[in-house]
Amino acid sequence: MTVTDSALLTVDSIDVYYGAVQALSSVSLELFEGEVVAILGGNASGKSTTVKSVLGVVKPRNGTIYLDDERIDGCEPPEIIARGLASNPEGRRVFPRMSVYENLQMGAYVRRRDGAHTLRGEIEELLELFPRLRERLTQTAGTLSGGEQQMLAMARAMLRKPRLLCIDEPSMGLSPRFVDAVYERLYTLKNHGLSILMVDQNANRALELADRAYVLQSGSVVLSGAARRLHDNPEVRKVYLGG
Ligand SMILES: Nc1ncnc2c1ncn2[C@@H]1O[C@H](COP(=O)(O)OP(=O)(O)O)[C@@H](O)[C@H]1O
Ligand SMILES: [Mg+2]
Repeated sequence: MTVTDSALLTVDSIDVYYGAVQALSSVSLELFEGEVVAILGGNASGKSTTVKSVLGVVKPRNGTIYLDDERIDGCEPPEIIARGLASNPEGRRVFPRMSVYENLQMGAYVRRRDGAHTLRGEIEELLELFPRLRERLTQTAGTLSGGEQQMLAMARAMLRKPRLLCIDEPSMGLSPRFVDAVYERLYTLKNHGLSILMVDQNANRALELADRAYVLQSGSVVLSGAARRLHDNPEVRKVYLGG
């Protein structure tokens, strides 16, 4: 391994293809424990593909991905989740016919061994963070608003006690009010020390939350650095952030 070995996540020069079409070309990124790292870029620039590669949903043709010192780029998603990654990928995957509470229980399914008592306590703690869900505990998840489903997906991911949370487009399709709420939760999770890899079309918001960011263009990293620096750089704003 040629890259620094102290990162929690190390993506090193991955190439990803969909059939004959190359979606990522030699993408590298690092995320250190406790960091929030944002992946930015225009439509079809490869943001989701990068996250999918980390989660094992797509397999790079070349390059490597390490979680700590374990290579994960050949692993299937369940194996990767078992190693401590959690995601709420694009969209909101809740179980629509189950209640909010049952959805949360499903989140902890992979660590059932911990026992029902611990689980109840943890759900209780999480509901402090997501008070709106508490009001809806017995309601079926399919009847929640888009923003509430997004929160449920996030709360459920948290119950897995992930080492790294991967989030693709947390604000997609949400009303501004819910975008605020989702970001508020993300700030709280960050302050709790959670490591987060996130994608958002809303670059401004993402850069305010993130410690560092990578900008993708046509499947390649064209820019990276401290989020604050990218956020304040007029050139960057003009070229990559649409203003
Ligand atoms: N399942 C797929 N099959 C074929 N091409 C895909 C698929 N998913 C994404 N792509 C292509 O890969 C490129 C990167 O897509 P994606 O990672 O979804 O970009 P972003 O998330 O930045 O919008 C795009 O050109 C897109 O059309
Ligand atoms: Mg995408």
